Amino acid sequence: MTILRILETPDPVLRQISTPVDKVDDELRALIADMFETMYDAPGIGLAAVQVGVPRRVLVMDLHEPAEEGGEVVKEPRVFINPEILGESDEDVPYTEGCLSVPDQYAEVMRPDRVRARWLDERGVAHEEDLEGLLAVCLQHEMDHLEGVLFIDHLSRLKREMVLKKLAKARKERGLSM
Ligand code: NI
Repeated sequence: MTILRILETPDPVLRQISTPVDKVDDELRALIADMFETMYDAPGIGLAAVQVGVPRRVLVMDLHEPAEEGGEVVKEPRVFINPEILGESDEDVPYTEGCLSVPDQYAEVMRPDRVRARWLDERGVAHEEDLEGLLAVCLQHEMDHLEGVLFIDHLSRLKREMVLKKLAKARKERGLSM
């Protein structure tokens, strides 16, 4: 397995629309394994393939709680291939989101708190389930990546500019070029 480079905004690849997966095969499973390793290393709770430069409709997520002191982390890896939202709750709830492609920046985004979703897993098996809470929010955030959308696009222009300014400042302090 390999830790892949995570693209950061304003990389234009992040704005591409990801294409559907037509075959769940070993090549795809190798990409998924690398995506998990990259996500755990970052660390993050979700990653879309486009964030590692592969614009295909594949997401990985793991929302497990951090381990108690001395305890072992129980991983809960989840894979979503060609995910679709079939329905959503009427009520939007706020959640503070961050993104590995907008490093160390957080802002509140409103989204439906429950969604009905359909997807394929890494064996190509179809699932359809009602998801809620963090799982629903995270799936919607990751699915935005498949359309070239970042969480900062949901913010007001003023808030978005503030986040991007803070990101630029943090990069300058780290000595990285834009
Ligand atoms: Ni993200």
